[in-house]
Amino acid sequence: MKLGDIEIDGRTAALAPMAGVADRAFRELCVRYGASYVVSEMVSSKGLTMHDRKSKQLLFLSKEERPAAAQIFGSDPTIMAESAKGCLAYEPDAIDINMGCPAPKIAGNGGGSALMRNPVLAEEIMKAVKNAVDIPVTVKIRLGWDSESINCIDMAQRAERAGMSAVTVHGRTRQQMYAPPVDRKMIAEVKKNIGIPLIANGDIVDGITAAQMIEETNCDYLMVGRGALGRPWVFSQINAYLKNGVILPEPPVSERMRVMVEHIKLICHYKGERVGIREARKHAAWYIKGIHGAAQYRQQVGMLESIEQLEELAFRIVKENI
Ligand SMILES: Cc1cc2nc3c(=O)[nH]c(=O)nc-3n(C[C@H](O)[C@H](O)[C@H](O)COP(=O)(O)O)c2cc1C
Repeated sequence: MKLGDIEIDGRTAALAPMAGVADRAFRELCVRYGASYVVSEMVSSKGLTMHDRKSKQLLFLSKEERPAAAQIFGSDPTIMAESAKGCLAYEPDAIDINMGCPAPKIAGNGGGSALMRNPVLAEEIMKAVKNAVDIPVTVKIRLGWDSESINCIDMAQRAERAGMSAVTVHGRTRQQMYAPPVDRKMIAEVKKNIGIPLIANGDIVDGITAAQMIEETNCDYLMVGRGALGRPWVFSQINAYLKNGVILPEPPVSERMRVMVEHIKLICHYKGERVGIREARKHAAWYIKGIHGAAQYRQQVGMLESIEQLEELAFRIVKENI
């Protein structure tokens, strides 16, 4: 897939933007496993134009996680354009506009998925951001607000008109949040009606679901969110299947625990142990999901206070699961 001048291998997948989850540590880890494109956690356009500290931390994109997009959300075209310019200080390879977030905090203020209900404003925002920067701009949408108002084709065509370099479609409505199976047929309809690259997103969890998404939608590229939680190796599974038809099994418990410790040490390295270990608890819970005795381990994960305790727990989990 081509994103402006950037060539991205279409037989691999991107890591989806995930607020509170897909931070620098996780993105770098996923890139090591073969994710060929990553997107920052969403950043408030208002916060960014007011130079708040949190936005700066969220926007930092390291050399180890390239190519990478900075994602912004908001509902005011001028502020969105200003914030896109502000992102340039962090040298992103692209800017992504969030038009899919269902969270009341975001959509309640007219941003994220609320823009699916206001296509004219959405197009204005896309044009304003596009005109403000000279790097590729993309947009991430859902199918529509609810089943009565599916408008992803219109939104994607507006994106094309506004000069977006690609459109990511999460194949659910806002009302569906994250639950029912993704609607690949509708993503396919969008693809048929636009000339810019389409990135398909939703329920891709391994090589087979990745191949199904490509076959059923004819998409140009894939984006993986929850399928990577506690499983950053999902990207190597997808790559192996799409390139060589090889199904890589889930790693053994010992390898899962090794990666968990490596991941959490990286979080602590970037954020400090006190903050990092607390943020890391949810990741640890994902890594132990499905392991024999997970319910009991999860309780201990909830109380983790140090890397040392994490290493002890990982050691015990491996010992008890040989
Ligand atoms: C914890 C979490 C945080 C998310 N944060 C964002 C975000 O910041 N920006 C965004 O566009 N989408 C966000 N999403 C949506 C994902 O990018 C993705 O569209 C969605 O999870 C569907 O893909 P999946 O089935 O592969 O998970 C988030 C999803 C989750 C689960």
